[in-house]
Amino acid sequence: MTSPLLDVHDLSVRITRDEGVVRPLNGVSFRINTGQAVGIVGESGCGKTMTSNALLQILPPAAEITSGHIRYRRKLDEREIDLAALAAHSDEMHQIRGGDISMIFQEPMTAFSPVHTIGNQIAEMIQLHDSLSSEATRQRVVELLHLVGIPDPQDRAHDYPFQLSGGMRQRAMIAMALASNPRLLIADEPTTALDVTVQARVLKLIQRLQRELGLALMLITHDLGVIAHTVEYVYVMYMGRIVEEGPVAAIFDRPAHPYTAALLQSIPSLTGKRRHIEPIEGSVPSAYALPEGCPFHTRCTQKVGPICEQQMPASAEVGPHHRARCFIHTEEGGE
Ligand SMILES: Nc1ncnc2c1ncn2[C@@H]1O[C@H](COP(=O)(O)OP(=O)(O)OP(=O)(O)O)[C@@H](O)[C@H]1O
Ligand SMILES: [Mg+2]
Repeated sequence: MTSPLLDVHDLSVRITRDEGVVRPLNGVSFRINTGQAVGIVGESGCGKTMTSNALLQILPPAAEITSGHIRYRRKLDEREIDLAALAAHSDEMHQIRGGDISMIFQEPMTAFSPVHTIGNQIAEMIQLHDSLSSEATRQRVVELLHLVGIPDPQDRAHDYPFQLSGGMRQRAMIAMALASNPRLLIADEPTTALDVTVQARVLKLIQRLQRELGLALMLITHDLGVIAHTVEYVYVMYMGRIVEEGPVAAIFDRPAHPYTAALLQSIPSLTGKRRHIEPIEGSVPSAYALPEGCPFHTRCTQKVGPICEQQMPASAEVGPHHRARCFIHTEEGGE
């Protein structure tokens, strides 16, 4: 078997602030294979954005990576490098950030400058990575805008970001992210700001591009509904840890961690059928004061005993390629 494109192991990040020390990531591990679509799901504040920012070393000033590695097979020479060990401003990191791994965000206005046309901004991105003539660059811009489903791409290239609708702007940002021929696309809540029909179309677009271009996709969302039809494999995150991982069907049909089960209960029906929605009890503990034991024990309704408050459960296999960190599934938990 070939090695994965990205192999994140035991990644921890600490932020030192006047108010205290924040631990947003506490041993995150996950993998993404070449061309694979993976979802990272969890409530607000669980560390999703921090994880993707750590990959590209765009962390807040007082943040540091305190453990782990981020092995990544770069396109330049297929060599595996540890992104966690690179300096944030090294040439290698710049190459990865602009060339290998692209990001799209919830709010496209932050990706674009308001004072240049989208065509010029995409062209600039192309020229950073390829030495194309200006005519070839112009053609590539139109091709990219066409690829993301923007009608009349030749004309739209002359528009300024504010002239496009929200959905079209989101498409233009995706075109810009693709301009460097990335291997991995990180999409952080890419559709949260859009209305439901536009959201569905943009998700379909991301999925089509991922398949057609053989892109690896890391889709970050708090909404399980978003990943249901878009990714193959899911990582569920809670308080800076992966608490469950598995193929998307297994996660939906047989959630093994009480947190995943609670997340599923808290979303409106995915199938359109009515269902009783139960918000998860309690709130996420502060990242300034991590609870002892299993981080979910303060809200869990299925605790097996005092061990839940004392020890961190090991990751246990619960099915094919399906693992969870919960004492329900370990010997210590009395099973
Ligand atoms: N600059 C910072 N200083 C201190 N704490 C921070 C900083 N940035 C993020 N955090 C904390 O780190 C934790 C993880 O934040 P992160 O932004 O990764 O969450 P998220 O899962 O992306 O949430 P959301 O769904 O709201 O985007 C949170 O507790 C957050 O408050
Ligand atoms: Mg976030």
